[in-house]
Amino acid sequence: MEQIDRLRALGLFDARVPRYTSYPTAPVFSPAVGSDHQTTALAALPADVPVSVYLHIPFCERLCWFCACRTQGTTTLSPVESYLGTLEQELALLRDVLPQGLRMGRMHWGGGTPTILPPHLIHRLAQAVKAVIPPTEDWEFSVEIDPTMVDRAKIDALAAEGMNRASIGIQDFDPIVQAAIGRAQPFDVTHQCVDDLRAAGVGSLNTDLVYGLPHQDDARIADTVEKVLSLAPDRVALFGYAHVPWVAKRQKLIDEAVLPDDMARYRLAELAGARFRDAGFATIGIDHFAREGDELETAARGGRLRRNFQGYTADTCATLIGLGASSISRLPQGYVQNAAATPAYIQRIEAGTLAGARGHVMSADDLLRARAIEMLMCDFRLDRRALRADHGDLAATLDPVLAGIAARFGDLVTLDDDALSIPPEGRALTRIVASALDAHVPEGVRYSRAS
Ligand SMILES: C[S@@+](CC[C@H](N)C(=O)[O-])C[C@H]1O[C@@H](n2cnc3c(N)ncnc32)[C@H](O)[C@@H]1O
Ligand code: SF4
Repeated sequence: MEQIDRLRALGLFDARVPRYTSYPTAPVFSPAVGSDHQTTALAALPADVPVSVYLHIPFCERLCWFCACRTQGTTTLSPVESYLGTLEQELALLRDVLPQGLRMGRMHWGGGTPTILPPHLIHRLAQAVKAVIPPTEDWEFSVEIDPTMVDRAKIDALAAEGMNRASIGIQDFDPIVQAAIGRAQPFDVTHQCVDDLRAAGVGSLNTDLVYGLPHQDDARIADTVEKVLSLAPDRVALFGYAHVPWVAKRQKLIDEAVLPDDMARYRLAELAGARFRDAGFATIGIDHFAREGDELETAARGGRLRRNFQGYTADTCATLIGLGASSISRLPQGYVQNAAATPAYIQRIEAGTLAGARGHVMSADDLLRARAIEMLMCDFRLDRRALRADHGDLAATLDPVLAGIAARFGDLVTLDDDALSIPPEGRALTRIVASALDAHVPEGVRYSRAS
């Protein structure tokens, strides 16, 4: 059987499995875990261990048809300004709960489009966060940037507040693909954005690309990759297009008849990945690439790569505090997600409580499986010795699962007493292998495709 037929037989094109940016995944979260859990867990944080902060801006001026992110369109600044007021109230509530002296080692602004904020609101928001959780000396501040929604003044404001990493949304440069996803973005506008970021001293640039978009073919993705390489990013995320119109209603505007078929989509990912490797990038996890010496690349090489809601990170902070609508906090006890709809989030904060609406308290079994899945997603290697050292006898409860994986995937995985590993020829199946370790299968949830 040809390699691709083997992958197909094991579910490459049919399996619908999570991307495991967390375990358990957000659809498993329960409404029984909310702001009370959030308050207790935040109050118990050790003051001397820095935390990471994620701040969500759920607004965009344009609503791209392919986008599955939690965001809403606006043509005026007034809802954004009023949302900022709610974020400030949320920070005031946090100040009453957090231990004195807590610092932040990292902050990420995502969305939506954080660069919808004009300079004065950028300063106001950054100052509000820093007043409650001051940054450490060597903190990292990263921001998702839409090149069509940013200018030099906004970039300078972000840089003045400490932005030292930027993630630039590209997706695809081809005008026909862009028209089919409702997202016009000329190359020269993106180039100008990159130039402005560099001129402002932002040292690390990531670019987001998506494969599997309508009308994408080998020639078009090859051309996009060359254009991206000419921008000389430090990192590239190459996400598989998640077509989930039952969740992201705006995707109904995408013409399914012009989506690449299974094989074409697989080839697009292979082709783009091969070109990035040729250009000297290392493959990071299932869908990222990084230049040699980049923090992500050194973390991957040193076995220190971690998985988080943004994808991959070298962040070692165990605690992530999520601010804003739909943000998820990762706390020592488990996960808490703020109310997802912006009006519900605002209502909770205005009522004077934190906005946690759903969550999950981690059991010992969850902690074990979460680490096992993270190892596979990051290193393609589940280190059984490390699991035994960290989780004791409980680690042995995974033995039958690992044996089952070995039996099912044949030589596309290897299993011995030390580790379960996925060799390069089996890596396209990583999410499927990881899902065999998932003990929480939510009812009625349809995930995106595995490839
Ligand atoms: C929250 S968006 C922020 C991007 C920023 N607003 C912009 O437009 O440039 C982050 C990234 O998620 C990815 N993304 C959004 N929807 C996706 C989908 N349906 N499938 C795969 N990736 C998606 C895109 O690569 C996007 O750049
Ligand atoms: S890709 Fe960016 S600009 Fe487009 S809808 Fe999504 S978050 Fe908004």
